Amino acid sequence: MPNRRKFLQTSAAGLAALATGQVAAGPAARPAAVGKPVVISTWDAGLNANLGAWKVLKPGGRALDAVEAGVMVTENEIGCCVGLGGRPDRDGHVTLDACIMDEQFNCGGVAALERIKHPISVARRVMERTPHVLLVGEGAQQFALAQGFPLEPDKLSADAEKDYREWLKTSQYKPVVNVENSGRRVGPVGGKQNHDTIAMLAQDARGNLSGSCTTSGMAYKMRGRVGDSPLIGSGLYVDNAVGAAAATGQGEDVIRIAGASLIVELMRQGLSPKAACKAAIERVARIKGAKARDIQVCFIALNNRGEYGAYALQKGFNYAVQTADGNNTLLDCEYLLP
Ligand code: GLY
Repeated sequence: MPNRRKFLQTSAAGLAALATGQVAAGPAARPAAVGKPVVISTWDAGLNANLGAWKVLKPGGRALDAVEAGVMVTENEIGCCVGLGGRPDRDGHVTLDACIMDEQFNCGGVAALERIKHPISVARRVMERTPHVLLVGEGAQQFALAQGFPLEPDKLSADAEKDYREWLKTSQYKPVVNVENSGRRVGPVGGKQNHDTIAMLAQDARGNLSGSCTTSGMAYKMRGRVGDSPLIGSGLYVDNAVGAAAATGQGEDVIRIAGASLIVELMRQGLSPKAACKAAIERVARIKGAKARDIQVCFIALNNRGEYGAYALQKGFNYAVQTADGNNTLLDCEYLLP
């Protein structure tokens, strides 16, 4: 089954990203503040996504446009756990969640959206063209169609179809962290990938912050299950006067602590992005107790001085940072549980 690592090995864009960037071995390989503009995103798919965002940021574009364009790159990647190439719910439907937020508290999201290729762009339309913040399910699809987004075929990708058929043999669903596979994926029993999310935070040359988040959610989830990714305050939050934060991992446990909003408030109190992410992870661990080892939760954050940081519950999370010096770097994240 193709995964992001394989994709990076085979895609020309991925190779270019790795050639211009470097995969850092340690978490503190770069200084935390790197000047404007800057873009940071989750997982190794973030390398390609950052390149998409950089096309907007480098010539002086707006952070909002950058975070939309950036994650659209990932939504387009077949075999990835974001967008229509992602794994279905337990009834065989791919349902997509996304949200976006700009520097003025404007925000929009969609949840359980089906057969639309770019949920992040629909989320932006919700933000810009409706009086609402979140549209779900059929209503979200209806809105997308009315906005001119094409209805895509009701069909799984070849890999997703194959995996789904395999999964149906037992229909066993229990999210666990697949630490053997470097912990990068959160997978159901059997070790296959279950879900991850692309979340992106950017600061443009004017100093404005924006963020985006998009996912197909947990593989084989209950029909109608929605995670943190479309929820402003949980999967994403931006306060231009302070900073921005976003999440990936077990959505239920991000929602429980209003993760992204919590991190922004901790930065407001003076914590660095990394320290704020760590404090949020410690809260997750406290709440979960012994069950913390069964899940993965990861946060990224960027403050309004352009300082960034991240922290994860378990080993295996990495994130990509594109900086004004031209480097697009994949960093291993520090984590709480030994
Ligand atoms: N963080 C993505 C999800 O739980 O759906």
